[in-house]
Amino acid sequence: MAHRYQAPRGTRDLLPGEIERWQRVEADAREVLARYCYDEIRTPVFEDYELFARSSGESSEVVQKEMYRFKDQGDRDLALRPEGTASVCRAYLEHGFASRGRLHRLWYTGPMFRYARPQKGRYRQFWQLGAEIIGTAAPGADIEMISLFVDLFDAWGFEDLVVALNSVGTPDTRRAYGEQLREWLAPAAGLLSADSQERLTRNPLRVLDTKNPTDLGVLAGKQGGLDPDKMPHMLDALDAEARGHFDAVRAGLEAMEIPHEIDHGLVRGLDYYTRTAFEVHDRSLGAQSALGGGGRYDGLIEELGGPATPAVGFSIGLDRVVLAMEGRGDAAPRKPGLIYVASTEATRAAAPAIVRALRSVYAVDHDLEARSLNAQMRSADRSGVRVVMILGEEEWKKGEVVLKDLRNGSQRTANLDDMVEAIDDILDSDAQEQE
Ligand code: HAM
Repeated sequence: MAHRYQAPRGTRDLLPGEIERWQRVEADAREVLARYCYDEIRTPVFEDYELFARSSGESSEVVQKEMYRFKDQGDRDLALRPEGTASVCRAYLEHGFASRGRLHRLWYTGPMFRYARPQKGRYRQFWQLGAEIIGTAAPGADIEMISLFVDLFDAWGFEDLVVALNSVGTPDTRRAYGEQLREWLAPAAGLLSADSQERLTRNPLRVLDTKNPTDLGVLAGKQGGLDPDKMPHMLDALDAEARGHFDAVRAGLEAMEIPHEIDHGLVRGLDYYTRTAFEVHDRSLGAQSALGGGGRYDGLIEELGGPATPAVGFSIGLDRVVLAMEGRGDAAPRKPGLIYVASTEATRAAAPAIVRALRSVYAVDHDLEARSLNAQMRSADRSGVRVVMILGEEEWKKGEVVLKDLRNGSQRTANLDDMVEAIDDILDSDAQEQE
């Protein structure tokens, strides 16, 4: 009979053989985050729909098209989280973080959900790892954020990544800039996709975020007669404070020699951003090249009903990080067990207790199906363990076991009471041989 069920479109199983790479990515990140003194936070995978609608912005693609919105049995209007920042801010307010200290450094990882057309690097359930600093408007926080962002990629073995940087200003300067942009785009407006024409009316900055090939051609001046060199820049529209902030962030990055370049077209896909915006791309990934992005969101917590609280953060798409690692052929070796405990018919009943005791120290495999000693030895060989402990009938009667070193085939007997020392001896001699 054919399989009846498959993982829903846009979702994947992460199987043994690839999960090891994910585990390594997460372990490396935990180390970096601990050194940066960030605390982990875990929030629910679903929240009130309204939380995301308010924070991401009604005109954002995420809210308009990509939300997994549903009613539960109690008729609550809920949504699977499309991102983590809104949830972190909600938790920050709900648990009165402000009363526990002025500044909070938080990080999270977990699945996010967006209903978009699946393609390489884009899934409907995907994993993010994100970090946020809540409670300060100082450019030092933006600088630390970008340095953490870059150091995570460093830890994962990425080279030659350049941080794209822009400022999206304040809501006021953005309105003024939106007008300039609308004017610049006007002569070619008719050629833009229906989506972009809609955005041109509601939120012209969003046009710069288009992935539509025709729109990209228009923006690049290939059709419609626009001159990309004349595109107005947000940086020129900033007020003095936002400009000063941007310059301070740049100076900080330069002092740390973090490679970055200004990208005037960088506007981010969510509405809550103010001032600093940044992203990093890996072109080897194709169309879905953004490995991660973030920025400042000084108005979000107030928008959610809290006191004015500036904040800055980023998220990284772990699926894409892992894809890029696979692309460069990074090995993610599976760790085999260290020891295989083999038994005979006469000693079979004693094996599980020995295995359990050894498992308090080592990774131990054994037979569950009462197979012959030969079959067990073949399994041990195939699985790549280093030592086989054979519970032979004669030795067992004397309180002994046989230890076989699979590296060189040598065997020795050991007293049951000393089995850990004897195993360590073998492992140490292996280590010495390797040196
Ligand atoms: P975002 O740019 O929407 O930002 O997402 C961050 C990253 O998540 C993207 O750069 C990408 O790597 C990954 N990503 C997004 N959608 C998908 C998808 N459908 N499939 C696979 N990967 C995807 C945020 O989510 C903000 N919360 C970042 C932030 C934190 N800003 C401030 N703090």
